[in-house]
Amino acid sequence: MNTATPIQSVSGLPLPLSRAVRDAAPQPFSELVDLQFDRPGLISLAAGLVDYDTLPGAGIAPLVADLLADADSAKAALQYGPTVGFPAFRQQLYDHLAALDNASPGDYPGTPDDLVVTTGSQELLNLIGDSLLDRGDIVIAGWPSYFVYMTALTTFGATIRGVDLDEHGLVPEKLDRLLSGLYAAGQMRRVKFVYVVSYHQNPTGITLSTGRRRQLFDIVRHYSEKSGQRILIVEDAAYRELTYEGDPPASIKSLDTENQYVALCQTFSKPFSPGLKTGYGLLPAGLVDPVKLCKDGRDFGSSNFNQHVISRAMTAGVYDEQVGVLRKAYAQKINAALEALGEHLGGVDGITWTVPTGGLYVWLTLPESIDTGRQGPLFERALDEGVLYVPGDYCYPNDPTRETPKHLIRLAVGVPNTEQIQEGVARLGKAVRQALD
Ligand SMILES: Cc1ncc(COP(=O)(O)O)c(C=O)c1O
Repeated sequence: MNTATPIQSVSGLPLPLSRAVRDAAPQPFSELVDLQFDRPGLISLAAGLVDYDTLPGAGIAPLVADLLADADSAKAALQYGPTVGFPAFRQQLYDHLAALDNASPGDYPGTPDDLVVTTGSQELLNLIGDSLLDRGDIVIAGWPSYFVYMTALTTFGATIRGVDLDEHGLVPEKLDRLLSGLYAAGQMRRVKFVYVVSYHQNPTGITLSTGRRRQLFDIVRHYSEKSGQRILIVEDAAYRELTYEGDPPASIKSLDTENQYVALCQTFSKPFSPGLKTGYGLLPAGLVDPVKLCKDGRDFGSSNFNQHVISRAMTAGVYDEQVGVLRKAYAQKINAALEALGEHLGGVDGITWTVPTGGLYVWLTLPESIDTGRQGPLFERALDEGVLYVPGDYCYPNDPTRETPKHLIRLAVGVPNTEQIQEGVARLGKAVRQALD
C-alpha cells in the first residue's frame, strides 16, 4: 500500500524494538510533510491541517483570561482532571451530541457516563483498538478510508477488510456479503468492528446517506445476534459539523437506542482548533470501562485546561460562532477547487471528482492508465509544476484480499487560500494533461 521507509535499525548494538513497531506499516504522510518544507513555493493540496486564517485566537483569548482571573476556576483548570474528562464537560458534550441529532438529552442513547474525553479523536480511535483488538482480529473499513487510522491499526496486528464506497457511502450489500462470507468461514469471533467516517469522509468527501445508516446498523446487529457477540460500528464523525449548508443526516449513533453497537467519535480539531487536541466519544455499553482502563495506564487524563477552555467556548457561544465561520470558509474553498477542476480538467474522458457537501476533501479519479502513486510519473510531474497531492493509494487499507487502485488523488483545501487552490488545481491540471499526452 505505501512506499515510505520502514523503521530500520541504526548503527551500534541492535535496539530490540517491539513487535508492534516492527510490524507497523510506516505512516506515508510524514514524507509529504517533509516535501512541503523542502520546496518553497509548493502549493500543498495534500495537508490535512485546518485553515490558518480563521483559527479562533480572538474568541479564545478572553475566555482564557477569565478562566485564569478567578482563583477557583484557575485552580480547577490547572490541576489534573479525571481520566475520562471532568463531569460537567461530559454532560455538556452529551447534550451537544443530542442537540446535533435534534434529540432531547433525555431521549438519546446512553448517558453522560458513557462519554469519554480524549487527546483528539485519534487517541479515542486507538483506545478503542487497545480495548478490542488482538493480533489477527478483523476490522472492516471503507475502501478507501482515513489512512492514519488504517496504518495505526497495523500496530494492533489487525487484518483490515475493505468495503467499497459509492456516492452514498459504504455499500451495505457489500458489507453484508463480506460478513456472510466471514460467518461461513467461521471467522466471526475475529470480527471486532466496522469503521465508518460517516460525514464528508476523509479522503473522498462522501457522506453516508440516511437510508444507508439504518441498513448498516441493521446488518451489524443481525450478524452480532447471529454470531452471539457484538460487532461494533466505530462511527468517526470528525467532519460532521463542517457541513456547508443545512443539517446533515442524523448520526448512526442516534439509531442505537439501546446503546449497544455504536461508538460515536468526534473532535474539536476540525470544527474549532486542532491545537487544543481534544476529542470525545459516546461509547456503547461495556466499552467505557476498558477505554478508561487503557487511558488510566497511558496518561490518566487529557489536558484538563483545554477542556475548561472549550467548555467555556461552548457556553459563551464562541464555539458555535467559529463553526459558522468555518462552514463559510470551507464552502468557499471547496467551490474554488470544484470550479478550477471544471476549468482545467472538465470534459476529459475518464476524469471525475466528488462534490462534497462539507469538510475539506475532494476525491479525484483519473483514467486507470495514470499512476498517481509516489513513485509514479504524475507525482514528480506535479512536484515540478509546484503542487503536492496525496496519492490515492495511501488511502486504501492493507486488505490482503484486494488490489489497491493506483489512479486516484486526495485533494485537501484546509491550508491553501482560494487563490492558491485555484493555482494549485491549475498546476495539477497541467501535470495530468502532460501525463495523458
Ligand atoms: C477522519 C478523521 N478522524 C480522526 C482524525 C483525528 O483528528 P484529531 O485526533 O485531531 O481529533 C482525523 C484527522 O485528520 C480525521 O481525518
